[in-house]
Amino acid sequence: MSEFQPNIIRLDSIGSTNDYLLELAKSNDVAPFTVVCTPHQTHGKGQRGRTWESTPGDQVTLSMLVNSIHPSLDQGFGLSMLSALAIMDALQPLELPQVQIKWPNDIYIQSRKCAGILIERIWTGQRLQCSVIGIGINVQNRPRELAQAISLSEVSQHKLDTAQIESLLIHHLIARLSTWIQTPENVIRNEYHRYLLGRNELLTFESHGAVFSGVIQEINTLGQLIIRDESGEFRHFLPTEITFVL
Ligand code: BTN
Repeated sequence: MSEFQPNIIRLDSIGSTNDYLLELAKSNDVAPFTVVCTPHQTHGKGQRGRTWESTPGDQVTLSMLVNSIHPSLDQGFGLSMLSALAIMDALQPLELPQVQIKWPNDIYIQSRKCAGILIERIWTGQRLQCSVIGIGINVQNRPRELAQAISLSEVSQHKLDTAQIESLLIHHLIARLSTWIQTPENVIRNEYHRYLLGRNELLTFESHGAVFSGVIQEINTLGQLIIRDESGEFRHFLPTEITFVL
């Protein structure tokens, strides 16, 4: 039997699947690739301290535990790229138009966000104990107050099955993680680049209060966004240093 088997915990309702799994990982000898899923997340967390809203049954909301498959890779941008690619894999059978990855780790359809990723880590001193990948996908509906958001059902011609998308997502996360160690980093990064929103297009950005135009060149090994601005300068940004003006 493969060592890469999900151990799935289903909860009717929970505050945050990430918090639940982080607590479990701190207090127990929890199995690798434990997945916590719920149709009803009441206090979902987003990136940078934001909240992640959902109405019961409308979203895939899950978290997966990754127990240091490759400690140096787990810590870097690799796990973000891998998670975004697993979502792309899971959405691929739906044949939706213009599905793209918006750096660092959002999934956009027709320039509107349909899925987000929040990776959190537990450290024992300097050593990474484990990472928790949290994923939310707007399937049936999107939070009404978010004009920039979109749900899969808004763009699909078919009735979508949330449970099926959840199961595809788990399958593809495991598939990506199980081949990670043998896959050279640049192969993953090239694939990520292929789906990258705005690559080789002139876009507008804002950084530290200044608006500028430029063309995304690539993501480097540190996960920084490299933009060539209109003066020809190559500039490097961390996620907290720049926003897209879409
Ligand atoms: C973002 O785009 O801001 C990240 C959103 C991540 C949301 C998911 S839903 C499942 C998991 N549990 C959480 O509390 N957050 C993540």
